[in-house]
Amino acid sequence: MTQTAPTIRPDAPVLVFDSGVGGLTVLDALRRVLPQAPVIYAADNAGLPYGEKSEAEIAARVAGLLGRMTERFQPRLACIACNTASTIALGMVRDVLHIPIVGTVPAVKPAAAMTKTGVIGLIGTGATIRQGYVDRLEAEFAADKVLLRLAAPALVGAAEAKLRGEPVDPAVIAGTVAAMRAMPGGERIDTLVLACTHFPLLADELAQAFGPGIAMVDGADGIARRIASLTEGQAFARAHPDTALFTRFEPGLAALEPALAARGLERVEVL
Ligand code: DGL
Repeated sequence: MTQTAPTIRPDAPVLVFDSGVGGLTVLDALRRVLPQAPVIYAADNAGLPYGEKSEAEIAARVAGLLGRMTERFQPRLACIACNTASTIALGMVRDVLHIPIVGTVPAVKPAAAMTKTGVIGLIGTGATIRQGYVDRLEAEFAADKVLLRLAAPALVGAAEAKLRGEPVDPAVIAGTVAAMRAMPGGERIDTLVLACTHFPLLADELAQAFGPGIAMVDGADGIARRIASLTEGQAFARAHPDTALFTRFEPGLAALEPALAARGLERVEVL
């Protein structure tokens, strides 16, 4: 007896998940390679920031929410567009959900190929930078380099504020750059890994504060290519306007609507 793979409905969405607006940087890259894909963008704003939570709490939230959302929306694939959630919960989510799951991996490998000075900076959340996952990336791809890791939790709030149309506090950016440069060897950093999906939203501000000679790298384009390859040959039809889904109502959601609409997320719902 031959078995055929279940047919994927053309309107089955790609679910893009983050704690907040950071995953929109992955959605931007996805729109460039798969503009026809229906998307549900899910932000666990009730759990933001993940970077200050324990591993157990993050794993439970992410697995629980993705389980509920998968049942309800029947996505063809889910993308955990969050370094913190991926480095902690990717394996567990893959064990429990029976759809392809694409995670977000700090871009240590491309950074190691790019650096000329051999000193790489990596900024992420506190929870991401302490993960064994990052130790393994460092051992595999950057054993002959210096990888300086810095927790930059204030950048998460700054990126959220920016997408609400609020000004970015220059002291937050300057403080992060100064802390990175003050680490032993920090003055020689020429390549910066943005190991939090929120941070590319502040790429211009960070580039300006670091000054010339810094290359920044994140995983968004690689994730988008991976999603395109896993869905190759599938039919896509965006039958409805795409939805941004939040885990709790808050007044600031209205201010986010222009940034969401600019990315084709015309409906806002609360789970
Ligand atoms: N966007 C998330 C990441 O990539 C983190 C933000 C948070 O602390 O919730 O790690």
